[in-house]
Amino acid sequence: MNAELHHGLRIDGDRLLRRIEDLAAIGPIDGGGSCRLALTDEDRAGRDLVVTWMRDLGLDVTIDAIGNVIGMRAGRTDGPPTMTGSHIDTVRTGGRYDGNLGVLAGLEVIETLERNGVQTEHPVAVGFFTDEEGARFPPDMLGSLVYVGGMAVEEALDIEGIDGAIVGAELDRIGYRGTSPCPGPSPRAFVELHVEQGPVLEAEGVTIGAVTGVQGISWTELTITGQSNHAGTTPMELRHDPGYVAAAVAAHVRDLAVRMNADGPEGGDRQVGTVGRLELEPNLVNVVAASASMTVDLRNTDEVLLQEAEADLARFVAQTAAAEGVTVTERTLARFEPVTFDDRVVDTVADVARRLGHTVKHMPSGAGHDAQMLARVCPTGMVFVPSRDGVSHNPAEHTDPADLVAGADVLLQTMLSLDGLSLDGATLQRAGLDSEESDR
Ligand code: GLV
Ligand code: MN
Ligand code: MN
Repeated sequence: MNAELHHGLRIDGDRLLRRIEDLAAIGPIDGGGSCRLALTDEDRAGRDLVVTWMRDLGLDVTIDAIGNVIGMRAGRTDGPPTMTGSHIDTVRTGGRYDGNLGVLAGLEVIETLERNGVQTEHPVAVGFFTDEEGARFPPDMLGSLVYVGGMAVEEALDIEGIDGAIVGAELDRIGYRGTSPCPGPSPRAFVELHVEQGPVLEAEGVTIGAVTGVQGISWTELTITGQSNHAGTTPMELRHDPGYVAAAVAAHVRDLAVRMNADGPEGGDRQVGTVGRLELEPNLVNVVAASASMTVDLRNTDEVLLQEAEADLARFVAQTAAAEGVTVTERTLARFEPVTFDDRVVDTVADVARRLGHTVKHMPSGAGHDAQMLARVCPTGMVFVPSRDGVSHNPAEHTDPADLVAGADVLLQTMLSLDGLSLDGATLQRAGLDSEESDR
């Protein structure tokens, strides 16, 4: 059954799991996760460790102007590499697998080739991209966005973080402002292994997700300004209360998503909405707030529906602010349309996984990923493995070791298959992100 798989090669599961533990030990937090917010000292220590591993493997390591790090192994011919990678920055309450798995599995793929003396036709590369999470410096996927030319590096270097730090200054401080230019050279193909971060694979008892694309993302920051006053003496009808408006908006974000899903064409379940950050000033028990700052995260696999959600939110904010007599300023922190991956890569992932004896499901990604940026410049796809209880962005994030290893083996064989594939010509894409068939 595996006769056609290249060299019958398998990755070394123990080595992969050990590296995951070693990286997770940098910036450890209660509950078993990691905190390595982008461009902090912890991120630097994580970077240093992974770069050491890349150099130990003899890779040609380059660092670009936004701090993306790429390790390259030569092929029989020169030219663009078949590339994999992900990120090693985390949210403040990160798990051990989000991003890290994709980078360390990529390293493991290359070590497996190296130890088995396998030469590929094309170079093979593994990278980690700066600030994928966007939790400190919005937008998310910042490094890969700059890598593909979606944002000028000068603009990215000027971005201010939630703590007032500036991207360029932090890159200098941690020693990761490199000299390779942005945008960077396009790979010939890109494939990223990642934990699903959602409940679908586990619920259906499927081991491998062949990811068809990534849903659209809309992040907005609202700053609401009103009239701070005494909580005991100010009559309700005379208030201009940013705290009230923020709370009403937060409730509306949830309601609009629930309503859209109930009303959707197929009674769909696609719209999600989250208020993940909400701060009041001065944040005291007996003071009507002077201002509120909050974020809204809206996502949908359908661009038209995502725009409807944005319009609904904007209407509600305007009406509620006018009724309360507060002012609102809005800032877009991230806005990315849904992305559809290349059929040739998606089909290769599914085919390889089946031939390795795994169950496979075609599915869209709910989370954002560097692969959605790389899809702008080369044939791209992703491999998902299950997340226990669908939990992620939480130190309790867990994937069974057997599934981590299965995903890395699928990554290895997918990269070898892509190495032998002619990928010239137009990118082939499915009609949409909705194909969710399982293939057991
Ligand atoms: C980023 O990884 C996101 O999906 O929020
Ligand atoms: Mn991730
Ligand atoms: Mn994440």
